[in-house]
Amino acid sequence: MTGTARYAVEYPARATTYGWVVQATAARGTITRVHTSAALAVEGVLAVLHHGNAARLNPAVDAELFRLQEPTVHYRGQIVAVVVAESIEAAREAARLVRFDYDVVPHRTELSAQDPDLYRPDHVNPDYPTDVVAGDFDAGYATAEVRLDVTYRTPAYHNSPLEPHATTAQWQDGRLLVHDSVQGSSPTREILARVFELPVEAVRVVNTHVGGGFGGKIYCKIQTLLAALAARHVERPVRLALARQQMFGPVGYRTPTIQRIRLGAAADGRLGAIAHDAISQTSTVTEFAEQSAVYTRNMYAAPNRRTTHRLARLDVPTPFWMRAPGHTPGSFALESALDELASACALDPVELRLRNDTMIDPESGHPFTSRNLAACLRDGARRFGWADRDPSPRARRHGRWLIGTGMAGSSYPARVRPAAASAAAYPDGTFEVRINAADIGTGARTALWQVAADALDVPPERVRILVGDTALPPAGVAGGSTGLASWSWAVVRAAEQLCDRLGELRGVVPAEGLTAEANTDDEVAAQATLPRYAYGAQFAEVRVDVDSGEVRVRRLLGVFAVGQVVNPVTLRSQLIGGMTMGLSMALHEAGLLDPRYGDWVNHDLATYHVSCNADVPAVQAHWIAEQDDQLNPAGIKGAGEIGIVGTAAAIANAVHHATGVRVRELPITLDKLLTG
Ligand code: MOS
Repeated sequence: MTGTARYAVEYPARATTYGWVVQATAARGTITRVHTSAALAVEGVLAVLHHGNAARLNPAVDAELFRLQEPTVHYRGQIVAVVVAESIEAAREAARLVRFDYDVVPHRTELSAQDPDLYRPDHVNPDYPTDVVAGDFDAGYATAEVRLDVTYRTPAYHNSPLEPHATTAQWQDGRLLVHDSVQGSSPTREILARVFELPVEAVRVVNTHVGGGFGGKIYCKIQTLLAALAARHVERPVRLALARQQMFGPVGYRTPTIQRIRLGAAADGRLGAIAHDAISQTSTVTEFAEQSAVYTRNMYAAPNRRTTHRLARLDVPTPFWMRAPGHTPGSFALESALDELASACALDPVELRLRNDTMIDPESGHPFTSRNLAACLRDGARRFGWADRDPSPRARRHGRWLIGTGMAGSSYPARVRPAAASAAAYPDGTFEVRINAADIGTGARTALWQVAADALDVPPERVRILVGDTALPPAGVAGGSTGLASWSWAVVRAAEQLCDRLGELRGVVPAEGLTAEANTDDEVAAQATLPRYAYGAQFAEVRVDVDSGEVRVRRLLGVFAVGQVVNPVTLRSQLIGGMTMGLSMALHEAGLLDPRYGDWVNHDLATYHVSCNADVPAVQAHWIAEQDDQLNPAGIKGAGEIGIVGTAAAIANAVHHATGVRVRELPITLDKLLTG
């Protein structure tokens, strides 16, 4: 590391000012009065912007961005003002002194399966059907030899990327320049142009380096808009970074879930009926419907199946994207239930999954373009040393530690989005490839550079790659594990076109250079809709203190099938990162909302626990060779998300094997084990 990478609030800006946000202290109601005189009296304070004095904005696509426009308070912690000052200290001090009077009305923040107002959204994220039915679940379940009916719960989770949501915004001659922490700047540019009623060409968003995101920065967030609004108001650049504590709520979180799973199987473990009914929450601001049951639609065979989603609209911040949305909570439920079914059928859990494997997608009826779940299960079992496992729970003990092992399957969709790219050749023998991809710390820049050098068939040292700027050809966000698959497609096409034109010129590069541009809009639109997924198998070994219930993960091992591997170093990093996040989910993370105040009780990294080094002793990620010609030119499936899918279930299953206690509500804390 050299420290030369610049992040959103580290770019030089002349005469910059600093913003600090103010959050509502009422859970629901209306602001009746704003008291700003004490804040304005702080030396160096330039402005306190709130709904009463902020410029009117054109409504944004995401209603959570429509802030400082109305006196309504939808949830506690909603951003209701921004202080702008000459220093960050003055801004922060003044923010403390801004006071609001509220007309408060009763609020409701608790997710409950008994909530009479649960409703059925029109679709779930990003555009899946809400409910899917095939065969006759009730009949298949009623006649099954083995039946399981269990409910799992996951709490709220908060994204905690190292770099907070952060923006430097500056206006010049009616043009807006933004340095931002967003996971992809092309959509943000469109949103800003719409909100400020500018031509798209008048907005430039730069995100050369992004310090993590995990979904929490996938689209334009509130600090971007407020920084731009404030910069226009004070007619100077504004830097606005959320404090860590301010990231717990107002920029989104993974919804808590309540998931009922029913499995009906023959005595040999073959599934005849699967039902997965998921409940989660959204806000009164806008709808966000986590697709928790979607995982179950495509994972295992069964003739009779039903998956449903219901939502509670509560006085809470709007949930948002977090690594493997839907599949993360959904796989915890289904892969835990399969472990319970394996016990009920006296069957090895790996064998149970092999028996219910399918090469035909149960939802669409089409063959998967490639499905190597079985290979991952077998290779994982071999590497982990699964074969000699005694299935009985609570059978292994070393001193005060009960030892157990568990496993889970995993999958994640392999999707692509359209993108554009350009490739240029120069007379000095170098090349430049340009695409508005985003490197959010994944190493995407490096992998794309390799793809570009391969496609140009020149040594990488002669290729420059530029990403992270809306001045480059537009591309989709770093999200949904679509990044490298989508971007590499456009890079390959641009490189092919450049090579063709160089061929026509017999390799002679004109003095001014030669540029070719390509986009994949038509190719991506024309691609057949087929079931495309990455797969994996997760194995965990835990030890549990027999007296205190303390759980330690001794090792995690995952084997994945993610298509073509571009860069083994960055791939491994993504996979073990996802697995570590899954470990964190299994044992540590839980966002707790106090229903009396509607406020997040634990809103910093001292009280919202995430796994740290000492919690993660040994994580191994492996992959199998896989070639799938029905994906994209580079044969990539994407690997940013599959590492987290199934991990929490593998650990929960291992805890059950160690202790005989089945914890169906994450995280697995000492209290839940001691009562068992
Ligand atoms: Mo990921 S939740 O699509 O950034």
